[in-house]
Amino acid sequence: MSWITSLARESVRNGRAYKAPTTPNLARLHANELPWPQDYDPAPGQLNFYPLLHPEALAEKMAAHYGVKAEEIAITRGSSEGIDCLYRSFCEANRDAVLFCPPSFEMYRWYGRVQGVRMIEVPLRAEAGFALDAPALKAAWSDNVKLLALCSPNNPTGNLMDPGHLLELVEFARGRSLVVLDAAYAEFAGQNPAADWIAEHPHVVVLRTASKALGLAAVRCGAVIARAEIIGLIRRVQSPYSFSPLCEHAVLNALGPESLEKTKKRIAAIIRERERLGPLFAQLPQVETVHPSQANFLLLKVTNADGFTAAACEGGYLLRRIPDEPGLESCVRVTLGTPEQNDGLLETLRAAA
Ligand SMILES: Cc1ncc(COP(=O)(O)O)c(C=O)c1O
Repeated sequence: MSWITSLARESVRNGRAYKAPTTPNLARLHANELPWPQDYDPAPGQLNFYPLLHPEALAEKMAAHYGVKAEEIAITRGSSEGIDCLYRSFCEANRDAVLFCPPSFEMYRWYGRVQGVRMIEVPLRAEAGFALDAPALKAAWSDNVKLLALCSPNNPTGNLMDPGHLLELVEFARGRSLVVLDAAYAEFAGQNPAADWIAEHPHVVVLRTASKALGLAAVRCGAVIARAEIIGLIRRVQSPYSFSPLCEHAVLNALGPESLEKTKKRIAAIIRERERLGPLFAQLPQVETVHPSQANFLLLKVTNADGFTAAACEGGYLLRRIPDEPGLESCVRVTLGTPEQNDGLLETLRAAA
């Protein structure tokens, strides 16, 4: 058994992915479905019949999009579910641990609590632009650490992690733990991390999502990208039939050449807005700092975070406070909207100053 498989939970190591017969050209008298399509079915048989165990056509298309092989990708319901699948594959409840660097994406903690995973928290260095604290992470490692979770660009801080730090930690983790590189916002940083990482590092897992740059948050489609060995383990904990063909259809559309052309323009528009808005927010008297961002949002440190969000709300704009995270008590996260929305928000905040 390889060291990577030995990290998996015993029940997962000894288990197998759910299997069911697939006989696409025969009348379906085996699955206790109703035989009649619904009038509102966009393609007859999509709604009344169970879909494939896993969305295979989509896995192939997404693998090609990210430059990996189909056996190196697991399609999940959002990359959030990818986090859950990783915990359920590798972390024994009340024993194993995940290294986590707050402030970061809150679902890492949330799924950790649900699964009884011990979260070992090594905060980002706020004074160094929310950089990783590599020495502290190394010192915090123990035998039961199964995963190190790193987000780059990070949410809610928006910064990319230093590639030198990432590499140093990935090398340190070799033989010890998996490293999750959560790249939900990579497109807004002009990056496509996937193939290179897993080619060189058998213990790296990259998370990607259709929720951000591809504009399909409601579809709930994420991708866990890793060597086939890790994907095989994850398939053992995935629920069968869980990805709707309607969702598959939407993502396949998003990955067509015309949609991708549009996506490219939209990413460019968000980046333009990010560069335009940063200095304009910085001019507001309520704003102390605009943190540099490589994502589709800006983190602002303001003088009165409650007043700031309340003023925005009154003007019709919902912003996000993250008051419970250390170092972010006075911060507000602003998602970049359309130029009109962004101008409207600025006007509202100017008027409230
Ligand atoms: C860093 C990061 N990872 C993952 C996700 C999850 O996205 P989804 O479950 O929609 O794919 C988010 C969502 O905000 C995020 O900020």
